[in-house]
Amino acid sequence: MKSRCFFYKKKNYSIVSNGVVTKKSYSNIALIKYWGKRKNKIQIPMNSSISYSLEKVYTVTKLIYSLKEIKKKRSIKIFFSGKEKTNFLPKIFEFFHRISFYCSYLRYFNFVIKTDNTFPHSSGIASSASSMSALALCIMEIEKKLDSSLKEAFFLKKASFLARLGSGSACRSIYPGLVVWGKHKSIKGSNNLYSIPYPYKIHPIFKKIWDTILVIDEEPKKILSSKGHQLMNHHPYAKERLKFANRNMDQLISILKIGDFPKFGELIEHESLNLHAMIMTSNPYFLWMRPNTLHVLHKVWDFRKQSKKNIYFTLDAGANVHLLYPIQEKKVIIRWIYSELIYYCKKIIESFCQ
Ligand code: DP6
Repeated sequence: MKSRCFFYKKKNYSIVSNGVVTKKSYSNIALIKYWGKRKNKIQIPMNSSISYSLEKVYTVTKLIYSLKEIKKKRSIKIFFSGKEKTNFLPKIFEFFHRISFYCSYLRYFNFVIKTDNTFPHSSGIASSASSMSALALCIMEIEKKLDSSLKEAFFLKKASFLARLGSGSACRSIYPGLVVWGKHKSIKGSNNLYSIPYPYKIHPIFKKIWDTILVIDEEPKKILSSKGHQLMNHHPYAKERLKFANRNMDQLISILKIGDFPKFGELIEHESLNLHAMIMTSNPYFLWMRPNTLHVLHKVWDFRKQSKKNIYFTLDAGANVHLLYPIQEKKVIIRWIYSELIYYCKKIIESFCQ
């Protein structure tokens, strides 16, 4: 693993000019969840996590940069789907503040950020992963323009490193497929500063997975994940959670290798319920699931028992349900979803786990 100084470049860039860069980045769904940050550290996870990037759920960001006087304060404007969003600014300024040490060239510019999602606005789908990673990729694109010697591998590593400083899960969105973030003893190259593509053998069944996202609640979450992470610091079960996540990662490595889908499914369901159990037993406590979430989970269990189909759920930090299944079983499963589950959700979003 590189130290964070690896990403610092003391350089005076002589040829800087105005410009525009555009990048696209995916949302992701974690199989083993990042939950909790190390105390007194910036965006260092308590445990290692792994996710699939979602091919059809992405953000496109255009970053317009124009020269400013170095001593003048930076101006940033942000537009989401064409509308100016001043309420996003505190998070964006904090992000620029955190990365300024590693990207000294940012001091030359004012910025206008124009961003759009492929997934419906207010669908309750976390957009911080795709939006922060798209922004980090845009910033690296500027760095590439200023430094033509920059290599692709460094570009991606540093983009992940920067994205992490915006939102932890965003650092996994830099790569397609299965992506790991956070040090785990069994995963070579895994580290806390940036993500890596999952480095071991993956059985073909796990290379073609479909994710049907059931949007059950479109409202913004009452307890944001950033607050939830903080609650882990004094959580009575935090140590057990850490052991559980580490053990799950070890099990997942062998499941991915041998291609045992039912074991995979049980593991991701158990893991997501464990995440929800942590928020339910935090102080203050909270419940992300809605009645329709529970209806769906029971329906999935019943259907699986009766049909023997490989359909399993995972939950993010909210009421929505991700249904994962092999692409070979899609025809029957999708028919069942649209006939039996449609009543419980506001929207359905489909994506290939690429
Ligand atoms: C439950 O990445 O949103 O989705 O680092 O504070 O921005 P911040 O948190 P965030 O947390 C995501 C938590 C999760 C699990 C996961 O994606 O691994």
